[in-house]
Amino acid sequence: MRIAVYPGSFDPLTNGHLDIIRRATNLFDVVVVAVLENEGKSPLFTVPERMELILRCTDGMRGVEVRSFSGLLVDFMRGLDATVVVRGIRAVSDYEYELQMALMNRELHPGVETIFMLPSVEYTFVASRLVKEVFRLGGDISHLVPPPVLDALRARLGVTTT
Ligand code: PNS
Repeated sequence: MRIAVYPGSFDPLTNGHLDIIRRATNLFDVVVVAVLENEGKSPLFTVPERMELILRCTDGMRGVEVRSFSGLLVDFMRGLDATVVVRGIRAVSDYEYELQMALMNRELHPGVETIFMLPSVEYTFVASRLVKEVFRLGGDISHLVPPPVLDALRARLGVTTT
């Protein structure tokens, strides 16, 4: 059984994340989408809200599980007996941070491999932070997030232009 973990903040899930999840399900039997419990980042959505959105948006996708974790990613992975981390890389600028994390995770747990996946080209500029900012300022992000996320943004931020 090939299990991969796709960790992140997912505040909120974007179409770019969803694209990576879909691609990962073609490679692995189980893809565990793992939401980091990190209130320090002042998230817009709580961890249960983020998990619920991911569950709704991945409904019908084979092999997807949604969990949350705190502490070290490698410890969470040990608990699942998973050895593959999936991360999406959009541009070269992502690479330095991702390389550091991948090597640190390997240092902490030599059995862990990180694979970097490329999203569809139309999502290479999509980031949760930008999506929230553009939405707050009244920009149209309806093509960048799944419909349940758009509804949740409307409910949370009360912007009605999109
Ligand atoms: O979506 P993000 O915020 O870029 O995801 C970052 C994440 C969750 C992958 C990373 O912060 C993480 O794995 N945090 C858990 C703590 C940990 O294991 N830190 C050491 C990894 S180098």
